[in-house]
Amino acid sequence: MSDSNANAPIPEGFETRAIHAGRDFVSDTGAVTPPIWLTSTFEYGNPGGFDYTRSGNPNFRLLERALASMESAAHATVFASGVSAITAIVSTLKSGDVVVAEENIYGCTYRLFAQVFAKFGVSIVYLDFTDPAALDRIAEHQPVLVWIESPTNPNLKVIDIAVVAEAAHAVGAPLVVDNTFASSYLQRPLELGADLSLLSTTKYTNGHSDALGGVVCSNDPEWQAKMVFAQKALGLQPSPMDCWLTLRGLKTEAIRMERHSANALQFSEFLEGETNAVRVWYPFLPSHPQHEIAKRQMAGGSGIVTVDFGLSLEQTLRFVESLRYFPKAESLGGIESLCCHPASMTHASVPKEQREKVGITDSLVRFSIGIESVEDLISDVRDALARLAL
Ligand SMILES: Cc1ncc(COP(=O)(O)O)c(C=O)c1O
Repeated sequence: MSDSNANAPIPEGFETRAIHAGRDFVSDTGAVTPPIWLTSTFEYGNPGGFDYTRSGNPNFRLLERALASMESAAHATVFASGVSAITAIVSTLKSGDVVVAEENIYGCTYRLFAQVFAKFGVSIVYLDFTDPAALDRIAEHQPVLVWIESPTNPNLKVIDIAVVAEAAHAVGAPLVVDNTFASSYLQRPLELGADLSLLSTTKYTNGHSDALGGVVCSNDPEWQAKMVFAQKALGLQPSPMDCWLTLRGLKTEAIRMERHSANALQFSEFLEGETNAVRVWYPFLPSHPQHEIAKRQMAGGSGIVTVDFGLSLEQTLRFVESLRYFPKAESLGGIESLCCHPASMTHASVPKEQREKVGITDSLVRFSIGIESVEDLISDVRDALARLAL
């Protein structure tokens, strides 16, 4: 049988690229793992074109190459944190510009818009993008950007990226997707029509809770030039050490995300089926309101589970603090499980009224499900609930 594509290269899988895409600058040594270039400056005229670490370093380049590949993007620029990546994007706007955003966004993104960018004349309008009517309202505001997260933090709303991209493009606005909660392994926004995909690489990309970082990915050379400018001109660059750690973490992202997703699904089924929880949110539970969209645009449900046990504030805090395998901590996406009370922690900077409007009540608990034995995580919660009932 003749096959006209017989000599075409076989596309490499995500796992292969995660391990091999970030290997370079080792020709003289053969090092299998790259070193950490702890240098602030570079001698002029070097073949790599490096001059000063604020505007580039081999560890940034290796991570950028790998992350672009993971996100199916032509370009990636790394930053000191997810918040730095958000700052880089918004720094391209000017006074009078309007951003339309999903109403349930990360508390620090909300705070940046309300307390920093508002002072420079950039305003933000919030809509509920799970309501189809929101799509018709985008045009009213003539936005320069449309901004969503999916799944959202902490309510795990799943937004249809392809549908919002089409609506944003109809009014000439690029779509920015914060892909932190899904991870590049489970969801690739640019493949779904988004223009920019940003990640706090602090979370699933690194996966070990030992480095901070952020990245903005795109296929547009103009956006890439703006991100490179923001990295150096605003001093938003990461450290070479953090890039090295993140690249190391990225190599196991696929296998970690499979386990996070399997554990979180089993954990959420336990909460829904065997406790008196008022409500459990997990994108891959059939009871999730956007379950069909989640299955279409994500390869797994990821590791975050949010629950409302219907307890008082005092009981909720007592429950959170009595868990054995879930330290009460900000952040998520590491191999270890964590527990968070969004109203008093990650979303404390969102005014109570706005918080409750978007469903972040005092009785909400967010679990970041790690890759431990899920039976231990389940018995920990079962025991903590039993103690509360005493
Ligand atoms: C969805 C989302 N985006 C951005 C960030 C900010 O990332 P970083 O803490 O790395 O600045 C976070 C942090 O929790 C987040 O949850």
